[in-house]
Amino acid sequence: MDAFIQQIPKAELHVHVEGTLEPELMLALSRRNGVALPYASVEQIRAAYEFDNLQSFLDLYYAGMAVLRTSQDFHDLTLAYLQRSAAQGTRHVEMFFDPQAHTERGVPLEVVMDGIESGLDAGRDQHGISSMLILCFLRHLSAESAMEILEHARPHRDRIAAVGLDSSELGHPPSKFQKVFDRARDMGLPSVAHAGEEGPAAYITEALDLLRVARVDHGVRCLDDDALVARLVESRMPLTVCPMSNVKLRVFDTMDDHNLRAMLERGLCVTINSDDPAYFGGYAADNLAAAQRALDLSRAQVIELTRNSFEASFLGASDKARLLAELDGWVAAQPAD
Ligand code: HPA
Ligand code: ZN
Repeated sequence: MDAFIQQIPKAELHVHVEGTLEPELMLALSRRNGVALPYASVEQIRAAYEFDNLQSFLDLYYAGMAVLRTSQDFHDLTLAYLQRSAAQGTRHVEMFFDPQAHTERGVPLEVVMDGIESGLDAGRDQHGISSMLILCFLRHLSAESAMEILEHARPHRDRIAAVGLDSSELGHPPSKFQKVFDRARDMGLPSVAHAGEEGPAAYITEALDLLRVARVDHGVRCLDDDALVARLVESRMPLTVCPMSNVKLRVFDTMDDHNLRAMLERGLCVTINSDDPAYFGGYAADNLAAAQRALDLSRAQVIELTRNSFEASFLGASDKARLLAELDGWVAAQPAD
């Protein structure tokens, strides 16, 4: 089963490029850019990655990304992620980035976007992975700040596939950003939002009703609300679940306690993703393998999860059909269990 999971063609729909910064590259960039870090070695960095909740992770996540300064840095970061993902069967990526976390430090939006984009182009050429970019607003900052970055991104509208919402969830409900998402929709941009990771099921309902999202990121708290589950099943709303992240951030105590299998059994359109793989210890296939093992997922459920990942993507109909055909062909060529 492990080789099957490593190689099965898959899409990753929930990964923050800043969360792919492995300790080795963090140290190399701190030297290259003369940015001091409170760590002297890779071991010290890894040892710091013990989290009690989302905020304790975010504090290190924002501190770590201080080493990212030039387009070359963002290019190197993006391409290193795609290389690791290609080795785990990833065929398509929809990548989040947090522009406010960089513009606030004086790194211009264009520097960030140019670097990520050239990394994505190189990943397409070298590894055959297709990709899209999702611009995320930081929900701990104001709606005015989000609106400002959206307007700043307007000339680059065609380089962005969607907008998203991330960072500290509790106390920052989707309703805070309704006007920003209205504006993004007027620009022709679809949306996604982190909701129901640490926050309540009601935040998922707000994301649907007020932000009109096309996907819910995490969404694991939906099982607290039966009417919401029925609505999500009926509309086949995709939920981009990140099992290793959820355990690292104590959303669930252990992988055995994760509700992913229950979500699948309720008929929800679940996908499996890595979120911040450098911080949580695993890429897309690692997440699928960890969940499969702990929850004893069947081969049919593994196939369902990867099929969902393509169906839930922002790809057009013909690209989706091509990747789904690749998936079906790959599965048909595997020996039976
Ligand atoms: N939740 C919220 N914000 C984030 C996350 C997450 O899991 N990862 C990076 N930013
Ligand atoms: Zn996330």
